[in-house]
Amino acid sequence: MQSKKLHIKTIGCQMNVYDTEQIAAVLAPLGYQLTVAVESADMVIVNTCTIREKAEQKAFSFLGRMAKIKAAKPSLIVAVGGCVAQQEGEAIPRRMPFVDLVFGTQAIFRLPELVHRIEQTRCQIVDVRTSSSLAFNEPLAGLTKEKRVSAFVTIMRGCDNFCTYCVVPHVRGREASRHPDRIVDEIRMLVDQGVREVTLLGQNVNSYGSKEGLCSFADLLERVNGIEGLGRIRFTTSHPKDLSDVLINLFGRIDKLCHHIHLPVQSGSNEILKRMNRNYTRENYLERLARLRDGCPDIAITSDFIVGFPGETERQFDETLELVKTVQYDGLFAFMYSDRPNAPAAAFSNKIAESVKKERLQKLLALQESITHDKYQRMVGKTLRVLVEGPSRTIDEDFKGKRTPPLRYSGRTTFNHIVHFSLPKSYRDKKELLTGAFVDIMIVGTYAHSLRGSVATNMPNANMGKGGSTIAA
Ligand code: SAH
Ligand code: SF4
Ligand code: F3S
Repeated sequence: MQSKKLHIKTIGCQMNVYDTEQIAAVLAPLGYQLTVAVESADMVIVNTCTIREKAEQKAFSFLGRMAKIKAAKPSLIVAVGGCVAQQEGEAIPRRMPFVDLVFGTQAIFRLPELVHRIEQTRCQIVDVRTSSSLAFNEPLAGLTKEKRVSAFVTIMRGCDNFCTYCVVPHVRGREASRHPDRIVDEIRMLVDQGVREVTLLGQNVNSYGSKEGLCSFADLLERVNGIEGLGRIRFTTSHPKDLSDVLINLFGRIDKLCHHIHLPVQSGSNEILKRMNRNYTRENYLERLARLRDGCPDIAITSDFIVGFPGETERQFDETLELVKTVQYDGLFAFMYSDRPNAPAAAFSNKIAESVKKERLQKLLALQESITHDKYQRMVGKTLRVLVEGPSRTIDEDFKGKRTPPLRYSGRTTFNHIVHFSLPKSYRDKKELLTGAFVDIMIVGTYAHSLRGSVATNMPNANMGKGGSTIAA
């Protein structure tokens, strides 16, 4: 079979990263091999995101670049997938006639047939059909992939929550969960390939399985915890309204579950939460965090925030700042509110000026920076177990300009901090054992968004590199 080159540009969340792997896997049997070089590709796919206007613009500006490349190389196939494709459908080729294929978020498994038709007849296709059934198109297993330590596994698709600002329910469809047996099979296969950590993905993992009458999310975690050779489990995203006591109690109790939860609160004001349709109050949220910290005192807590939601007053924004001070988050993502098509908040009155949104964003980020700084300082001197992800691209300040800077590696703690550390000379001949191993690192310094450490104990031996290691988080 003729080998053809495929370039995929991924924009957006981890679900899109996972979907991109699926796209590569379904197209491999047609002879497509991945390339990082856009210019040499026979087909270019952009996997798009539309969560905020900026993300959508990013897709269109990438496509603008593709228009030029295609003008010089008419045989190039240009395809648009993901959430913008689902949202815009037919409008994309109308606006950009050089686009050959538009495929929606539920069309990935029809791609081989769609691409084959385009190759044969050079027709233009738009496929944004969604299925109303709960059947989950099972991902393809096993076509890989360079050695990696950490992998995403989608456990459910879609969202039924309809937060008033959000486009996801409109572009990803109704919530549907995968069968736990398939999820466990996929993780076993990943572990065989060298993966040590999985992140289970869904827009609202707490409601996993409920519609289909499968097991609960907590049950699923217990099953995944039993997979031999897996070292760590993470998950995202968890909706505060559905965070059950059973799940709360798993932290600190099942050994592989990392001591970190991302629990987006969006706002500290009950009035705003109500208009966002989040279905919890600031008080319920704080109470859940207290229970999490009761059961697992060192748990790291991170969150998402939207600033400048329509009608947000200074006082309501102050409530957000107060909440951040009270909780003392380990990190947060903050976004300026952006109107989205089909999202009810787009029609809400009292929109906030861009300049005010910017100011609020900066205030919130500055507050968190100071909290993060203090938290990082308190880590210095502690020894933490790190899952090594591989050689690090950064160079230690202390060694800048030296002829042979020490080999640097990086990995993550159970709390999801990134740690950079130098490899002692005596271990240089063992460095191939390091990626995917658990190593105890003493924290000796801090950077703005990561920690600096030095190897404390338990450097990997020959048994640990190959998958023998099941040391927990
Ligand atoms: N399912 C996840 C969120 C996925 S979207 C959850 O419910 O937590 C990731 C983040 O993008 C959201 O948490 C929110 O903070 C932000 N976001 C979503 N829609 C937005 C919009 N219209 N404008 C600005 N930020 C938005
Ligand atoms: Fe969007 Fe809300 Fe669903 Fe998250 S829970 S994806 S914010 S609608
Ligand atoms: Fe973006 Fe779609 Fe994810 S809108 S955030 S890529 S679900």
